[in-house]
Amino acid sequence: MNPGKLVGMIIPDGTNQFFSTLAQLFQRELAQRQCGLFVANSDGSKSRELSNLTLFFSMNVDGIVFISVGDSSESFRHLAEFTRPVIVLDREIPLENADFVLTDNAHGIRMAVDYLASLGHRKIGYIQGAMTTEPGRERYSSFMEIMGSLEIPVDKSMIFPGDFLFGSGTSAADKLLAMPRETWPSALLASNDLMALGAMQRLQESGIKIPDDISIIGYDDIILASWAYPRLTTVRQDAIMIARVGAGFLLDRLDKQDLENQNYAESRVSLVSPTLVKRNSCSLFKAANDLGVEK
Ligand code: RIB
Repeated sequence: MNPGKLVGMIIPDGTNQFFSTLAQLFQRELAQRQCGLFVANSDGSKSRELSNLTLFFSMNVDGIVFISVGDSSESFRHLAEFTRPVIVLDREIPLENADFVLTDNAHGIRMAVDYLASLGHRKIGYIQGAMTTEPGRERYSSFMEIMGSLEIPVDKSMIFPGDFLFGSGTSAADKLLAMPRETWPSALLASNDLMALGAMQRLQESGIKIPDDISIIGYDDIILASWAYPRLTTVRQDAIMIARVGAGFLLDRLDKQDLENQNYAESRVSLVSPTLVKRNSCSLFKAANDLGVEK
């Protein structure tokens, strides 16, 4: 591949370390082949995402790396017209002739629920991610399926809506704090770290002890997860592997384009396994009377 190519990467939310770290890692991979990366942030906005795509088209970039803000069909239509390589990371979208690097979210949620169950938790709350994204939908459906397979009843009042932002975590905590303590779950699974940290902060501000009063587990393993107090137990997405595989797919396509002046016809999909990172925000289940909670 000729050095000096420029690739455009679109991330949905630059304030989330999951995406900024992924962009940083992707840039490192491309730099090894003297390929530049231009990162554009969509700020959670479909219109901004579309503007970013239009910008990259006008810049005549050599390839696009795309993480969607959510079900943005107009962006997907635009992408389908792009004749050069497209690599989709993290959030699967309906697009042909592209390569996909995704996390095995069913496995990730299975590890989180199995871990909480192994600590004796039988009442587990859940904070949903953006249900306009495949990871949001997949993690929630996996949670419900796994809870069913373990015969752990799900209390629908303990399923809190979310959008992967910190504020969804604080809102979920506010709802929980408004409920009688004896009705609370003993553990809370947030489908990303920012919402787990938001819930943890709001609960702690109200005098709730983590994990003594309620265990909390997140998903991503952003840098902040290990800086929080208590340090957040979470499901680590392998950002290094996602970036490495995605950059490999892209460079393959760029090389092929140089050689044969055409893009791959078929799509390639790589599913990257997450891992469970046990820190200090989860503990063994304690019965209510052990917590001194009035009946
Ligand atoms: O934290 C943002 C979430 O949205 C991550 O879990 C990532 O998978 C993305 O889809």
